[in-house]
Amino acid sequence: MTEAKSDMGMPEKEEENRVVFRMVDGIATLTINNPPVNAGSLAVRQGLLSGLARAVKEHAQGVVIVGAGRCFVAGSDLREFGKPLEKPELPDVIKAIEDSPLPVVAALHGVALGGGLELALGCDYRIAAPATKLGLPEVTLGMVPGAGGTQRLPRLIGQVAAVSMVCDGRRIPAADARSLGLVDALAEDDLLAAAIQFLKSEDRPKRLATEQPLPEESPEDFETAANRALKRGKKRPNVAEAVRLVKAAADPDVAATLTDERAVFQRLRLGSDAFALRYLFFAERQAASVDGLDIKAARPLKHAGVVGGGTMGQGIIRALLSAGLTVTVIERDSDALDRAMTALRQSLQNQVDRGRLASSDCAQRLKKLAGATSVDALADCDLVIEAVFEDMVVKAALLRDLEAAMRTDAIIATNTSYLDINTMVTGLSHPERVLGLHFFSPADIMPLLEVVRADKTSDEALATGLALARRLGKQPVVARVAEGFIGNRIYAAYRRRAELLVLDGAAPEDVDRAITSFGFAMGVFAVSDMSGLDIAWAMRKRQAATRDPKARYVAIPDKLCEAGRLGRKTNGGWYDYTDGKATPSPIVAQVIDDCRSEAGIVPTPTDTDTIQRQLMAAIVNEAALLLEEGVAQRPSDVDVTLTNGYGFPRWLGGPLYWAAQQDRAALRADLDALAKAVGHGHREGPVMTVLDQLDLPVKD
Ligand code: NAI
Repeated sequence: MTEAKSDMGMPEKEEENRVVFRMVDGIATLTINNPPVNAGSLAVRQGLLSGLARAVKEHAQGVVIVGAGRCFVAGSDLREFGKPLEKPELPDVIKAIEDSPLPVVAALHGVALGGGLELALGCDYRIAAPATKLGLPEVTLGMVPGAGGTQRLPRLIGQVAAVSMVCDGRRIPAADARSLGLVDALAEDDLLAAAIQFLKSEDRPKRLATEQPLPEESPEDFETAANRALKRGKKRPNVAEAVRLVKAAADPDVAATLTDERAVFQRLRLGSDAFALRYLFFAERQAASVDGLDIKAARPLKHAGVVGGGTMGQGIIRALLSAGLTVTVIERDSDALDRAMTALRQSLQNQVDRGRLASSDCAQRLKKLAGATSVDALADCDLVIEAVFEDMVVKAALLRDLEAAMRTDAIIATNTSYLDINTMVTGLSHPERVLGLHFFSPADIMPLLEVVRADKTSDEALATGLALARRLGKQPVVARVAEGFIGNRIYAAYRRRAELLVLDGAAPEDVDRAITSFGFAMGVFAVSDMSGLDIAWAMRKRQAATRDPKARYVAIPDKLCEAGRLGRKTNGGWYDYTDGKATPSPIVAQVIDDCRSEAGIVPTPTDTDTIQRQLMAAIVNEAALLLEEGVAQRPSDVDVTLTNGYGFPRWLGGPLYWAAQQDRAALRADLDALAKAVGHGHREGPVMTVLDQLDLPVKD
């Protein structure tokens, strides 16, 4: 055990000393020092309590609480949340701050999140460095703030802003926090010095948030904000509780509403949503790493190229520009380039018009964007991402042209959805600098990025892909080469099972309803209609010659395409569309009947539960196969992929986490039923072995 000297000259045990006490110019400074993010653990809470007591004993004029290292406090230690919490709890610390005769200032930098922000709300004043982000993410973790956040925040910023901030869990920048009244001052230079100066420059009386009156606001505005939060909250019980608690801040009996909030928090933190979301929280952080890979091997990126300015290329360009990169886009000819540049300018302008982008930032981004029709313009790029047609011949030829045009140390990425990158790089002199970066549409919005490590991809290229994901604010998941990588391959198995369910007796709308009632954002057939049935149709036609004739084949989507029903764009696909609204189609019902008759199938009714469990079995089985093949690194990466890219309900933790919560015998029966329904050619994955490998949160 190492020992450190406190400034009082007394040796202190470093492990226990998570809050460092110093007297500076008559002000007691309590520095939270719990690397890496100063999570509010038991030792931190104890340290704050003893620091507050010592400040009084040593006749300080005031107290500053500040964080060491990169932030104030990034939240409470989530690992403590599955077990009984040890005393002192955070509300005890906040009560001690409020009861202290000394004025207490929270000096914020980096982030002040969750329990960290609640700690700051319990102080008399708050000062922040301009780059600080503040937020209450508890709702996104299946809980509500439990240390007064729902009661103190509305008193400082009003119930309307508070209900949004609590319910959507967003982080707001310090400047916004300042104008809302959440922060009293911004400190441009030395934060600690500014906080001490703040206390010393004039008389700063105690000023408890709980004693401040609620700002006057119209009840209608609150109802509007609350209803929006509830709608976004997908009927999760914790969101309804959060809204109720923020509303209850109007009750003058603060002690009672604080007790109410704490009780709700204590119940929710041990609920199934909270366990699943905590699991995902750690799974997402782990997914961004590869065992044995040093992320510092990443190449610095300043100038990126994008080849192909279509749907994906444009989204990727917007994402790169928003991260401050200079971007050169390449199109086939000047007409296509003009179209791409016009569309890009228009979409950025739309963001300005909607108030999502400052016009100065828009101008800045456009200045960094250039276009050309020859890859020679990419000579200076650090990284080029290709997003041209999904065609092996086109992509392989392009990669060779890129290799000739680019610097030898630059990285090349392909945004292919399905193609074999190992094949794509044959013929290159330096295949090690190629990796897959599989974005999801729209690429500037969707959080997921599959980072594909081909057989020859170097550590440097892989690390660069992961570093880029971080810079773009995306959730990376690392995959090896496989048709459809992790996400699209699982999706194909899921869609196939859905189509078989229809062939065997369910209506498409029954399947979609079962999926959305399970919690997915959209049903599988509604998704097909949205993206267009023709893409998969073209693929099936390409694969027709190699298809195993003994395998069950669902011809329904082919027949829909033959009838010109390509989805929403033709006002009909699996559904009919009137004014954009989907309704079940009698034509589709007839096509389904015909296909059943041709296959000699007597339709059997399928209930919602069976549909849900069969679709889950298909997903889980394919996930197990991907893990067995080494395409996915770890089981939790599959959960991260499905929740971030495919609308899988986050509060269920992902398909494998969900499966791990099921009775094993029931799951076994589902997998057997899946094998029977798929029939010839079905491959069984090692599901139970995979579930045993999941790192599940401990429940006490
Ligand atoms: P798209 O057809 O909208 O765009 C392709 C663009 O590439 C067109 O503008 C075309 O003019 C241009 N292009 C073709 N060959 C070129 C060349 N040799 N040099 C320069 N430009 C060239 O297609 P989309 O949807 O953007 O897809 C592009 C790639 O992204 C494909 O590999 C696709 O599989 C993949 N992808 C697509 C997703 C989607 O949701 N659409 C999702 C993830 C990946």
